[in-house]
Amino acid sequence: MGKLTVQLPHTQYEVHIGEDVYDLFSSRYIGLLQSADRVGIIADKQAADLHLHTLLDALRTAGVEPMVKIVPAGEKCKSQDVYFECQSYFVKENFTRNSLLIAFGGGACGDLAGFVAATFMRGIKFVQCPTTILAHDSAVGGKTAINLPEGKNMVGSFHQPSAVLFNTKLLATLPPREIRSGMAELIKHAFISDAEWSESLLEEASFSNPTEEWLSTELLKGIQVKADIVAEDEFEHSKRKFLNFGHTFGHAVEAVYGFGGLSHGECVMIGMAYSFILSERHGKMDASFTDHFIKFARINGYSFAPVLEHSFESFLGFMEKDKKAAFGEMNFVILEKLGAPFVRKVSAGECEQVFIDLQNRIEMGERS
Ligand SMILES: NC(=O)c1ccc[n+]([C@@H]2O[C@H](COP(=O)([O-])OP(=O)(O)OC[C@H]3O[C@@H](n4cnc5c(N)ncnc54)[C@H](O)[C@@H]3O)[C@@H](O)[C@H]2O)c1
Ligand SMILES: [Zn+2]
Repeated sequence: MGKLTVQLPHTQYEVHIGEDVYDLFSSRYIGLLQSADRVGIIADKQAADLHLHTLLDALRTAGVEPMVKIVPAGEKCKSQDVYFECQSYFVKENFTRNSLLIAFGGGACGDLAGFVAATFMRGIKFVQCPTTILAHDSAVGGKTAINLPEGKNMVGSFHQPSAVLFNTKLLATLPPREIRSGMAELIKHAFISDAEWSESLLEEASFSNPTEEWLSTELLKGIQVKADIVAEDEFEHSKRKFLNFGHTFGHAVEAVYGFGGLSHGECVMIGMAYSFILSERHGKMDASFTDHFIKFARINGYSFAPVLEHSFESFLGFMEKDKKAAFGEMNFVILEKLGAPFVRKVSAGECEQVFIDLQNRIEMGERS
């Protein structure tokens, strides 16, 4: 079992990763459970159908019989309706300010449950039990949110969990698309922090088909990167922005194409290729690295189709709406070199040149 501590100015909590982390409910976290007058789980439907019994068994062993609120699988749960349904459910079940919530599911369910916990009776404690690879990112750092019809994550707050228990056994049922999604965020953590680790991931033959043991070690490294950044900049005034590497263009791809069937991380993978071209222009990254990255992504089943199938204008509109954009210029995280990120404004004109360059490089890669 791996463990690390997220150290913040006003609080700290532990992230545990491995296949027997739920045993900690009967030991390390028995006090947390016993100090709560009620314990509730908000569970993603899909994750619950497959694995909720594992969590329930562990809680019952610890002497707790939780109330369970099942929410729709994936992004659909981050809606106003589901949010208020959860609040009403826990009020009706007599939850109080001394109750405890547990988030069980991927990043979407974690964001929803975290926001329910942040606001229920002005805020109660919660524990993150992530069930996707991507959630190694989302379960740590305290960002919680739901979506509005007008945009993603538009209503939310910072609310840190009391603990994160990441059971890697549950990852075995993830479909390939969700594995790719999470692995994209993992390699992002490498790119913004560590050249050697980045290179080793790029050489990993089982990158998109990882074994549980290898994955546990790698995810712990990814979580450490996130934890270190959050420790220095909890509220995203500076360094925390680096975690958005690949996301300015990636979010635009998601908005244009996400409903066409690509997961968040798959869109971020495309966004990182875009950012590597920017890093050739503004940093010291080599063009050959970008081409190698695109090839690596392809081999691992990532698609670049959105870039070839849509015009620059369709992406630009969404990039301009990005929370980080201002006055016709977009903010991008760029790499000086691997492991050395910085933020820079880029004009719409340059964004278009980079887009055309990316299209050419993808087409070139397809021919080779
Ligand atoms: N708070 C943050 O800091 C932060 C950071 C990154 C992403 N996010 C958010 O995370 C969300 C994406 O998270 P995600 O990629 O985990 O997606 P997700 O929560 O939508 O889950 C993806 C799919 O996998 C299913 N699933 C979950 N666990 C499973 C399992 N063990 N086996 C099989 N299927 C399983 C879910 O039902 C869903 O259909 C987005 O809403 C994003 O905004 C938040
Ligand atoms: Zn992301």
